[in-house]
Amino acid sequence: MEIKSDFLVLGSGIAGLAFAIKAAGLGTVSIVTKKEKVESNTNYAQGGIATVTDTNDTFESHIEDTLTCGAGICREETVRFVVEEGPERIGELVKWGVEFTRSGNKGSTMYDLGREGGHSHRRVLHAKDITGKEIERALIERVAAEENIDVYENHFAINLICQPRPPGRNGKDNRCTGAYVFDIENNLIHTFRAKFVILATGGSGKIYLITTNPDIATGDGIAMAYRAGAEIANMEFIQFHPTCLYHPEVKSFLISEAVRGEGAHLKLADGSTFMERYHPMESLAPRDVVAKAIDTELKKSGDDCVFLDITHKDRDFLTGRFPNIYDKCLALGIDISKEPIPVVPAAHYQCGGVVVNSVGETTIDGLFACGEVSCTGLHGANRLASNSLLEAVVFSDRAFNRISQIFHETGYDSTAIPPWDPGGATESDEAIVVAHNWDEIRQCMWNYVGIVRSNKRLERAKRRIDLLSREIEEYYWNFTITSNLLELRNIATVAELIIRCALLRKESRGLHYNIDYPEKDDGNYLKDTIIGKRAEP
Ligand code: FAD
Ligand code: SIN
Repeated sequence: MEIKSDFLVLGSGIAGLAFAIKAAGLGTVSIVTKKEKVESNTNYAQGGIATVTDTNDTFESHIEDTLTCGAGICREETVRFVVEEGPERIGELVKWGVEFTRSGNKGSTMYDLGREGGHSHRRVLHAKDITGKEIERALIERVAAEENIDVYENHFAINLICQPRPPGRNGKDNRCTGAYVFDIENNLIHTFRAKFVILATGGSGKIYLITTNPDIATGDGIAMAYRAGAEIANMEFIQFHPTCLYHPEVKSFLISEAVRGEGAHLKLADGSTFMERYHPMESLAPRDVVAKAIDTELKKSGDDCVFLDITHKDRDFLTGRFPNIYDKCLALGIDISKEPIPVVPAAHYQCGGVVVNSVGETTIDGLFACGEVSCTGLHGANRLASNSLLEAVVFSDRAFNRISQIFHETGYDSTAIPPWDPGGATESDEAIVVAHNWDEIRQCMWNYVGIVRSNKRLERAKRRIDLLSREIEEYYWNFTITSNLLELRNIATVAELIIRCALLRKESRGLHYNIDYPEKDDGNYLKDTIIGKRAEP
């Protein structure tokens, strides 16, 4: 079946939904999302969204904190406009129904502002500790009220469809005109055709064994864009969140940095603090510093986890400010008002991604990217906490404004799109191979491409991932597809991109720490690591 709309939005997190709500005023929108529409990294965001609203805070200060965290390779122009456009975009979220927690008495017009690592002011708007859930709720309600938007749940985008530009026409080599999409429930593959395609598929935390990310985060958008020939950058900068709950019954539950913002201290098993040995901001130092410090301490002690102690706050405060964290821990037998929380670092955020310019255009015509899938220049070598929800709303707005300028002069590409060709694929009788390869990739990335890297570990990871990739490609072409297999193929591709970028950066900067080059090398590496079909080294 061919499904035609003006806009094809891949993903229903904050970036995709915010774009779709605006685009519905211009034309028809199809939102394709691989699970239920709420399932996204956005839905699990806890800390909040950073923006300057306090009269004692300034844009300059937010800009400086972002640049400091980014360790020299943020695009300064991007940092400036994201910070400066923030308050207006937050106003839009509020208009769409997002309820951020207010300070003081009921009816107060002031926002309660949280603090997180690397921020020199309290500037994080939040909805208690379920900010992302509140954002998804409001935006999904708003989308449901738009006649121009169709949402396709349980539809998995497999590949972008790109057509070569006809000779004599201006523009880039390729134009993206849609995507092949797997309708999971009906086991069918549809062709979605659109004038503009917006990639908003989020990050790739599931590539690592231990992650704060939900199952959807398999880097599909990066892998699709890479296969289509788009430039990809800075994949070596994977952010590890210092405090993921360590508990045998829980896969990935974050203990928000906002807990440290309220004075929680990191401690070792013997109850002693250690962050004062690593950074003057102690437990509230930027994430790369805290995650690396925990990693060092765990390697030294051989312990499984460290502890986060917020017991100086009483139960009333904790249930009011962090109800989700309090309840979750209590259900597991941990009363956080009385005992410290066991935590470990976990893969959390992908700072690199599909390269875009200041209005969200990728290096492929007709293909825009916003949110975690993109590399905008905001984060540089390390993202400042709570800057990603902000980046997503600013870039979806900018992409929308850019498209508004060219929308009326853009028609549907008239080139026929060939239907999906299943080739000679047959049912697999060895699905166990898929499960094993999943485990192998995640284990390999955790062990060899984690918080602390070395040339030897990266080379070893490369050999293993190359081998697995060949096996997976063979499997992909021979057997009928399942979402598990599609995701496996994508995590293999993204793992390869992370390793290649990490090998290219022969220095340590921000989130990329290689013991063979422990220092920054501004002379050679004060730049993005770009890979892609046109820029391959
Ligand atoms: P997502 O919200 O991840 O949405 C991606 C969408 O794409 C999903 O709907 C997914 O199903 C869909 N999708 C993916 N692949 C396909 C495919 N092949 N076909 C169809 N659909 C597909 N950031 C902050 O700024 N503040 C915070 O407090 C904060 N807390 C966080 C807490 C946690 C636990 C996590 C995991 C992240 C947190 N982050 C936070 C990061 C932030 O949540 C994400 O960066 C942001 O939500 C990404 O939004 P997005 O719209 O780009 O992607
Ligand atoms: C958190 O609440 O600690 C997550 C914030 C973020 O990832 O920006």
